[in-house]
Amino acid sequence: MKTRAAVLRDMGKDWEITELDLDPPKAGEVLVRFVAAGLCHSDDHLRTGDIPVRYPIVGGHEGAGIVEETGTGVSRLKPGDHVVCSFLPVCGHCRFCARGMTNLCDLGALFVDNCLPDGTFRFHADGEDFGQMCLLGTFSQRSVVSEHSCVKIDDDLPLETVALVGCGVPTGWGTAVNAGGVRPGDTTVVYGIGGVGINAVQGAAFAGARNVIAVDQLANKAEAAARLGATHTAADADTAQEIVTEVTRGVGADQALITVGVVTEEVIAAAFAAIRKRGTVVITGLAGPGKKSIQLPSFELTLFEKRIQGALFGGGNPFDEIPRLLELYRSGRLKLDELVTIRYQLEDVNQGYRDMLDGRNVRGLLIHAH
Ligand SMILES: NC(=O)c1ccc[n+]([C@@H]2O[C@H](COP(=O)([O-])OP(=O)(O)OC[C@H]3O[C@@H](n4cnc5c(N)ncnc54)[C@H](O)[C@@H]3O)[C@@H](O)[C@H]2O)c1
Ligand SMILES: [Zn+2]
Ligand SMILES: [Zn+2]
Repeated sequence: MKTRAAVLRDMGKDWEITELDLDPPKAGEVLVRFVAAGLCHSDDHLRTGDIPVRYPIVGGHEGAGIVEETGTGVSRLKPGDHVVCSFLPVCGHCRFCARGMTNLCDLGALFVDNCLPDGTFRFHADGEDFGQMCLLGTFSQRSVVSEHSCVKIDDDLPLETVALVGCGVPTGWGTAVNAGGVRPGDTTVVYGIGGVGINAVQGAAFAGARNVIAVDQLANKAEAAARLGATHTAADADTAQEIVTEVTRGVGADQALITVGVVTEEVIAAAFAAIRKRGTVVITGLAGPGKKSIQLPSFELTLFEKRIQGALFGGGNPFDEIPRLLELYRSGRLKLDELVTIRYQLEDVNQGYRDMLDGRNVRGLLIHAH
């Protein structure tokens, strides 16, 4: 089968739209026709090298679509099923899955080669194998993915919108609710209001934070945050610190959540300074693996028992979190339609990422033509 896809051929190169050969699904795999794919910052990290991977690779790890064919042994899915793809596959049996930490499933080890769990590739062109971002490749019209990556959803949910629940929504939400442990009455600071951070704002507000302080230098981000639950906005970390000091009477924030596009030493230092005794800094945004982005006084960490927590998928379990967030959306309490700023065709993926880097989008969305 042929499919059109946005691929990266090397670090630093732009996205290229090309036609690829796609193999049929093998055992435990399904063929998915993607309807929509979110433009998450993590795919741009593939381009810059902040996430090191094998090239060439089909981009996209946030998406939803319809199952068209199943391989042998697939029992949970059938043709016609609607699915949201989790950017983390969940095998259910490795020791981390067995302990209920399915976001840390050992299948994550495949995220360098981005082949499927059996070690082989489904996308090819001119004798070359193409990986698929997070074992998905949602920037392709069609892809073959592991059933471990697919969460079946109700047919009446809008696939265009719920595509965002594959990454940005649960990641941001869980950064506040799971990893940050926001409780009623808390004061929570969120640094960076993109597709992830806006959902940290929603999560913190939903969990009952009294103050949700959204920090972003861009006015459109502050406006979006204010619409979706922020009580205060700040253009920079110093202003945020002043607000924290005032609203907590000098005690400090309960959580400082870092969801900026590229994490820096400065933003981590600001977040660390903003939290109270035994407060928590959650680092969800990424920086390249070679960067020593944490430089902090351990004196303060020890004596104030400050905590620093990394978070993958917001520290939640994809097969639990995705359906629960969709039920909240259905009941009108989680906003998803409001998150999409601009819709793009596959051909415009480079423009979509330029817009993301220029700060125009809360979230950009690719809509596939079929
Ligand atoms: N840990 C995970 O599971 C996980 C999952 C998805 C994405 N991510 C990462 O989360 C990060 C955010 O992704 P996104 O798609 O929301 O990105 P985005 O580009 O849409 O948004 C980032 C926002 O951060 C703002 N920003 C940049 N520097 C800032 C600073 N110093 N202070 C305040 N705001 C600042 C930008 O203006 C922008 O609005 C990326 O690094 C991405 O790779 C992590
Ligand atoms: Zn993502
Ligand atoms: Zn596992």
